[in-house]
Amino acid sequence: MALSPTFNPIATSRAADVISRCQALAHFSEDSAGLRRTFLSPPMHDCHRAIAEWLKPLNITPTIDAAGNLRAVYPGTDDTAGRLLLGSHLDTVPNAGAFDGPLGVLLPVALLEQLEGERLPFAIELVAFSEEEGVRFGTPFIGSCALVGNYDEEFFNRRDANGISIRQAIQEFGLDPAQLSAARMSDDALAYVEFHIEQGPVLEALNLPLGAVEAIVGQSRLAVTFTGKSNHAGTTPMNARRDALAAAAEWMVTVESEASRTAGLVATVGSIQAHPGATNVIPGEARLTLDVRHKSDAIRSQSVQRLISLAQQIAARRALTLNFATFLNHPAVAMDTFLTAQIETAMRAAGCPAHRMPSGAGHDAMILASRVPAAMIFLRSPGGISHDPAESVLLEDVACAIDCGGHLLKQLSASPEFLQSVGSPATSQRTDPPRG
Ligand code: GLV
Ligand code: MN
Ligand code: MN
Repeated sequence: MALSPTFNPIATSRAADVISRCQALAHFSEDSAGLRRTFLSPPMHDCHRAIAEWLKPLNITPTIDAAGNLRAVYPGTDDTAGRLLLGSHLDTVPNAGAFDGPLGVLLPVALLEQLEGERLPFAIELVAFSEEEGVRFGTPFIGSCALVGNYDEEFFNRRDANGISIRQAIQEFGLDPAQLSAARMSDDALAYVEFHIEQGPVLEALNLPLGAVEAIVGQSRLAVTFTGKSNHAGTTPMNARRDALAAAAEWMVTVESEASRTAGLVATVGSIQAHPGATNVIPGEARLTLDVRHKSDAIRSQSVQRLISLAQQIAARRALTLNFATFLNHPAVAMDTFLTAQIETAMRAAGCPAHRMPSGAGHDAMILASRVPAAMIFLRSPGGISHDPAESVLLEDVACAIDCGGHLLKQLSASPEFLQSVGSPATSQRTDPPRG
């Protein structure tokens, strides 16, 4: 007989709280017209205050580490047994939806509430990461990189569009960059588990509420600049122009057609700026971003090289110059096999078929996996829509995820293999994630 999620009225009421809390956080925005909450922006303070209020009945007082991550520990029965990290991110893309990130912060809060004071043989640390999207500084995963200690001097000096460095941003938020090393995850971390919306159409097409992520695809992010010559739009004949924006447009269409020809490859030019940016001036410079993803690291690297070489050919033919810089070059990351199997068992216990799937989106779990066994649970995304205000979740799917999370905590509490795993190598890769 096919499994179907059991209706659990308590989980359903907790699910309603999770959804309304995500929607409440969505009011804390840098933009009045839509949700935009970037790394260490003022509305992050509002999020931290709201989460602290929701944690008060649990007698948990969160702290904010020097990277702006909110950290909150629910103690276990046994101080020596280690801790399970649960979390996701609080930053958003521009014009965002309410659930990408916050769902993975507030669903664990519901799991803590569901324990009703019961202590588990391990502590649970809730982590609300300050940065995952890469919007403000062009570099993603700043929050999770602080937990794994993957940053350097060059990282502190990166600047946002207003010329503010990461170091200054940390100070302006009221934090001390010198304390960043204290943000590293505790040595007794046993594992990291992240709940997240799928952000794609697969679970909906299969009519499934949840998915167990087996791997997260690799991604490359680059900045690409075509430089030509600005000149008068009325007096410069068409054959005497060095139009950087026209070259960029030609390349963008090439990126789209090249990616469509390679199975499984996705490539996106997500932003473009033309300079000087006036109706009657031929653009002398066009700055673009390129995002390339594939589950095979070799195919991704070859594709990036090919797309850059095509940009160089277009630039040469039009007498322009081309510059590019790589901001992120992250390999595909396998999720931990033990945890993923445990998640599948928990899904079945919640009445939900266990479906394994890859993630095309990047997640904090891919950074944490370098230090600790990591796994992810996806929730169906209605319409496959994400990175858009129409992003949503279904109440029954959130209830099913809470039920699944409750079973997972019980299983891990009874698992000698899990409880003895402090300091043991993860089955996922343990190399330092390159920052590009
Ligand atoms: C995160 O949302 C990503 O770009 O994958
Ligand atoms: Mn996102
Ligand atoms: Mn996300």
